[in-house]
Parts: sequence; structure tokens; C-alpha cells
Amino acid sequence: MPEPDRLALPAIAAALGPLASRFDVEALAECDSTNAHLLARAEAGAPSGTVVVAKRQTAGRGRLGRVWHSDDVASLTFSLLWRLPSGTPLGGLSLAVGVAVAEALRELDIQGVALKWPNDILRDGGKLGGILIELVSGAPHAAVIGIGLNLSLPSGLPDEVRKGAAAIDADIGREALLAGLLASLHGVLSGFASTGFLGLRERWLALNAHAGLPVRIVSGYAPPVDGRCLGVDSDGALLLETATGVRRIMSGDVSLRVA
Ligand code: BTN
Repeated sequence: MPEPDRLALPAIAAALGPLASRFDVEALAECDSTNAHLLARAEAGAPSGTVVVAKRQTAGRGRLGRVWHSDDVASLTFSLLWRLPSGTPLGGLSLAVGVAVAEALRELDIQGVALKWPNDILRDGGKLGGILIELVSGAPHAAVIGIGLNLSLPSGLPDEVRKGAAAIDADIGREALLAGLLASLHGVLSGFASTGFLGLRERWLALNAHAGLPVRIVSGYAPPVDGRCLGVDSDGALLLETATGVRRIMSGDVSLRVA
């Protein structure tokens, strides 16, 4: 397989403008997983704002221990290291990142973007991308924020995958897209450091794809829970109206399905 090109660093810096000094971007043609690569760099002391973007991942990681498949022509895969002030409550961090991604896409005129709790990026109901946050060992307030987005849907995609997927499908260069996402993440994560998720909750609620809808919460170790999605609490827990009252669902190992 030919080695894919790397993203162009000068174009990313130009699109970031004055914010370029806040980021240190490493552009790779290929790596196992940008999260794994950046976690190793973080453990060796890399500063906040370090970014790893790879055209191809050979062992991309998804939530719940799943493999994240991405096509090097048709996806953007990157990770950002962010060191939050020690003592910052991390509840809702992945929801905050979802807000940053969705708002950046809307800013770039991508229509139909919404969020599915806890951290899927949807477009017109299909999955456009995902977020995987991993904490750096020995530095509990340092987070590696991994983001994968579908730029287009490859023609050979099996029908059952295509059915539930969505893509950006717009004429935006990867460099401009990455810069837009980093700028949005910079604003949201700076806000998160001072107010936690509480200060971003209303923005998440405005993007909630399932507000007021019947949903089912599925986990690998407990029976499913059905209810109506009321929104999220100040720490990012899902608020579910069930037959026995309002329940708070923590994101740990669960997934939300449309009932
Ligand atoms: C999910 O399961 O929805 C989360 C997927 C996150 C994938 C991204 S791609 C860039 C970064 N590197 C990884 O190995 N995973 C994340």
C-alpha cells in the first residue's frame, strides 16, 4: 500500500492564525493510533497543545475497547493533549469536546450536525465521528483527546455500515478543518478549565440529538434501561425519565440507542 501524504504544517499554522503558537502539531503519514502515540509523548512530558494527526492509523482505538476503522483518504484522525489545572473536575469533559467539534463543523457551514450522548458526532442522524479521551498515567489532569471524523464515505463500504454512517462531504481541506477544530477546542477547553462542564451545559443541550425522545441505555453488564432523554446534568450524566423516576446515567460503559 503506498504511504499516504502528511498534512501540511504551514497550511495548518496559516489557518490557525494567532492561535498557532498554542499548538505544536506533529503530522504523520501513518501510526498505530494517534491516541497511543500522543499518550507516550505526554508521559515523556510533551506540553499542553501537542497535536498528532495521522493520515492512516493501523490500530485506531474506539470507545469501549472497540477498534476504530478509518480510511486514510476519507477521514481525519488526530489527538490533542490538554493539561487542565489540577483539581479541575473532569466530569463532562468528553461532552465538552463534543460541543467544540459540533460548533466548529457548524461554523464551517456543515449542516445537520448534532450530538449523541455521551460523545458521538452525528450528521442527519448518522455517525459522523467519535471522540475517545484517555487520561495520561501519572498526570490525572492531562487528557489525550482523540477525534475521528468521516470526510466522505468510501464506495466499498458495506451497506450495513453505510446505513448508520455520515460524512462531512464538503470541499474543505483537512488542514483548514483541523485548524477550525483546534481553534474551537482551544476556546471550549479554556472555558472548561474555569467553569467545568456546567458553563458548557446549555451549549451541549442545544446540540442534543435526542432531546425529549425515547431512548434505551445499553450496557454490557446490566439490563437495558428505557426512558425519555431529559438532557444532561452539570457533570455530564444523562438524565433519563423512566417509569420509576428520573435516573442519572454515568457514561462509563454504556451506549444510547434510539428506542
Ligand atoms: C468512538 O468509538 O466513537 C471513538 C472513536 C475515536 C477515534 C479517534 S481517531 C483519532 C484517535 N486515535 C485513536 O486511536 N482513536 C481516536
